[in-house]
Order: sequence, then structure tokens, then C-alpha cells
Amino acid sequence: MQFSAATAAPEKQKTDCAIVGVYQGKKLSRAAKQLDGALQGQISRALKAGDISDSIGRTLLLQAPNKAKALRVMVVGCGKKSTFSAQKNHRKAIRAALSAVTKTGATHAVSYLGEDLENAYEHGRAAVEIANELIYSAGHLKSKKAPRPKLRKLEIHGESDHTSDVARGIKTGQAIAAGVALARELGDLPSNVCTPTYLAEQAKSLAERYKSLSCSIMGRATLEKKGFNCFLSVSAGSHEVPQFITLKYQGGDKTDRPVAIIGKGITFDTGGISLKPGQGMDEMKYDMCGAAGVLGTMLALAKLRLNKNVVALIPACSNMPGGNATNPGDIIKTLSGKTVEILNTDAEGRLIMCDALTYAEEFDPVVTLDVATLTGACVIALGHANTGLMSPHDDLVADLLRAGQDAADPAWRLPLSDEYGERLRSNFADMANVGGRPGGASAAAWFLSQFTEKQNWAHLDVAGTAWRSGQRKGATGRPVPMLTQYLMNLEA
Ligand code: BES
Ligand code: MN
Ligand code: ZN
Repeated sequence: MQFSAATAAPEKQKTDCAIVGVYQGKKLSRAAKQLDGALQGQISRALKAGDISDSIGRTLLLQAPNKAKALRVMVVGCGKKSTFSAQKNHRKAIRAALSAVTKTGATHAVSYLGEDLENAYEHGRAAVEIANELIYSAGHLKSKKAPRPKLRKLEIHGESDHTSDVARGIKTGQAIAAGVALARELGDLPSNVCTPTYLAEQAKSLAERYKSLSCSIMGRATLEKKGFNCFLSVSAGSHEVPQFITLKYQGGDKTDRPVAIIGKGITFDTGGISLKPGQGMDEMKYDMCGAAGVLGTMLALAKLRLNKNVVALIPACSNMPGGNATNPGDIIKTLSGKTVEILNTDAEGRLIMCDALTYAEEFDPVVTLDVATLTGACVIALGHANTGLMSPHDDLVADLLRAGQDAADPAWRLPLSDEYGERLRSNFADMANVGGRPGGASAAAWFLSQFTEKQNWAHLDVAGTAWRSGQRKGATGRPVPMLTQYLMNLEA
């Protein structure tokens, strides 16, 4: 879909569909008023007749009379004018409006919903992100493609002194949307397509498409030689070959220390010998959403041409039972040298992430972020609204929380302290990989913290936010917006 900034007044703008708001108290927005004249009072009549609701996200489609420049008008409830600038509110209205427009025959639309926003940038960015979210289809493998929405071009209106802000919002929105779409597609692909090798191919193809990206892959032989035993122990039961992906983005000076972002790439999590119950197990194809989010972020960065260096690290493998699989009780020496007693092979995420975190030290990163669908406990704690954020570094936490807010992709801090490690004591190794169910998200983070003592590190548990279950089952692309925003904020 195409996006551009527009400045023409609504009554003068030719379009298939003009999108205008009404505020609580049945108040027409300025654009709605301006159009109402051209529509011979149609909007105000519909409002009076009670056909238009001013509550956020309600829509009414009006066909305009022949003479009007707009063929249709989508009237959107925007709630209280005074609180419309709150991100939740205007994003909800924009989503409802665009969702309704994509169900009409309109190929061209213009949104006037930004006129009362404190910043025009957000109107451009939100409209682009949301439009792309709406046109995404998870039917990559259906033999008949779902019909694509007719909407081809969306113009985003701003006053002439705001067009550069709108345009900047559109550009940022497009980069983030591309990253989100990539993360969603990789997440939604099943494990027989999206294998570790497939993820490696995706990373390589990104590096081919963008000069700023370069990619290298380590296979089993190299990993064995270097001592990634803990990562390899998870892969041991699977016939899929493990792949350790390094994707570098160079936007700064060669000597600038990078930010490291590490994504869990379990392409399928059966639990291994500690086999998961069958119910809903298909959703464990999403256990590589950390990796997908990291790759999506790298794509967004390349598009935005940020002047930072970022190194993405992705341990990718499949967690399967099998003749060579790791057994409960097995003890493995990690890349760091610390030993781990694997009491439950289903707590595999931390086992691949710990080696990746140790490996990150080689890049001397200023900040290390890891993203993983790590624990069911995080879903229980936070549900699906917030990503779990754990870190001993308060400043880093503050920056990440703010990035999540800015990008409408929020996180919530969960505790991380040594009490959460007490249950991971082992009689036979330096630590066990599981303790018990209480505080499971924090216990997992504590485990990771044992491999990041030298780093400015934060952990994002996206188990509840990276995909949706049920009728709307599908990947969300989170936390691409938050990570990209964090990196953008570093640049500012
Ligand atoms: N990938 C899962 C976590 C998960 C489960 C995410 C369900 C989303 C929904 C992870 O590898 C796992 O199995 N974790 C275990 C840890 C437990 C054995 C300590 C869990 O959360 O049950
Ligand atoms: Mn597991
Ligand atoms: Zn897992």
C-alpha cells in the first residue's frame, strides 16, 4: 500500500473515502464540519438522527452526493476531544476507521483524524503501522490467496506546516511495519517450513538486500569446537541442524560498540524428553518469535538507516525427544564454563540463550537485550498486554519501558533478585535449569543473569505478547516496535 502526506482541505480533496472524526457531545471535528457543507448537512443530520456514535472506534459509512469531491465519508467516533491525543485513544479510532475502510470498495482514502493530535508525526506513523497490520494475511500457505483489500493508497492529512512531521511519521511507520510483517510471517510459518536453516536463509537474504547488514552462520561443527554445548544439548534430539545466526548492522563507525539483540529461535518446542501435553502444542511453532522479532528489528533498522551499530544473535534449533536427546538429570558445561543440571528439558529456552549471552561478550556490547518466548509463567503474570521486562539495571529498564510506551508496544517490569535463584540450586552442577512453578518468569531471568554479569543487560519475555491464540491465532510482530523505538531513542 502507498502512503503520502496530504494538505488539501477535505471539501476540496478528491478521494474514494474521507475519514473524519466526531467527538463526545456530538461535536463534529473541524474536517467533519468542513465536509458537512459539501455534503449538504448529511453528517450533522446523521448525528442528530442518532446514527453516529461519538464513542471511540464506532464508525458510520456515508455515501456522498454526486457533486462532492469525496465519494464516501467514514465518520469515526473519537471519544473526548481532550483525551484524543492519548495514544490508546487515537490508535483505537484509527484502527476502527481503517478496518472499516478496507471493507469497502474504496481504493483511495484520506485520513483527517490527526487534526487535534499534539503531534502530526504520530498520525502518520500510527496510520501506516495500523494499515499494514490490517492488510497482513497469515494465509501464506493457503492454495487460494485471501482477496486483498481494495485500498491501495492512503493519504494522511496534516496542515501544511506539519507535512514534514507527517512524512517522517510515515517513513518510520513503514520501516516498523516492514519489520513487524517479517516477524509475523516467520512466526506464522509452521515448523516444517520455518526450520533453523530457513531462519538462517532469511538472515542471509536480508544481508543480501541491504548493504548495511552482514550475516554469518555457525553450524554444528563450529559450535562444537567453540563449546556451545548447552545450545547443542537442546538440539540433540532433532534431525534439523542447529544454526547460530550472527547478523550485523553497521550504521555507525566501525569502532562504535554495538547494541546486541539476542532472539530465542526454537523452531518447535515439543518439550523434548520432558514432553509437553498435546493440547495446543501446535502453538509451539511460535517459540522462535524472539528470533523473528530480532530479524524484524534488523530489517526496520536497515530501512531507517539508524547511525548505530547493532549485532543480532540467534541460536536456532528444534527441541525434540529422540534417541540422542538430552535426558533429565544430564549435566552440561555451558559456553561460559558453568555447569547446568537439566532437570526439565522443556526449560530449553534459557539453555540456548545462556550460550548466546556468553557469546555476546565477544562483541563488547554497550547494551545486551534478549528476547524470548521463555515462560508460561510470564503469560500467567502479565497476560497478553505487556511484555515481561527483567533487568538489574534501572536506567536500562526505564529506557525500555519508555520505548514500549512510545511505540504502543508496552512492557512491564517483573522482579529479578537472588531469591529467585535459590530454587535453582543443584547438588551436582553449578545450577539447575528449573526450580518450581512459583515466580517462573523471574526464576528464568535469574538463570540468564548468571551469564550476563559483565553486561548491561535486559531480558524481554514475549511469551504472552508475540502471538495470539484462539480465533485470531497469529503472530503479532511484537516486540519489533519497542526494540526499534529503543534504538531510535538512543540515536536522538
Ligand atoms: N516455550 C516455552 C514457554 C511458553 C509456554 C511460552 C507456553 C508460551 C506459552 C518454554 O520453553 C517452556 O516450555 N517453559 C516452561 C518452563 C518450565 C518447564 C520451568 C514453562 O513455562 O512451562
Ligand atoms: Mn519449553
Ligand atoms: Zn520454549
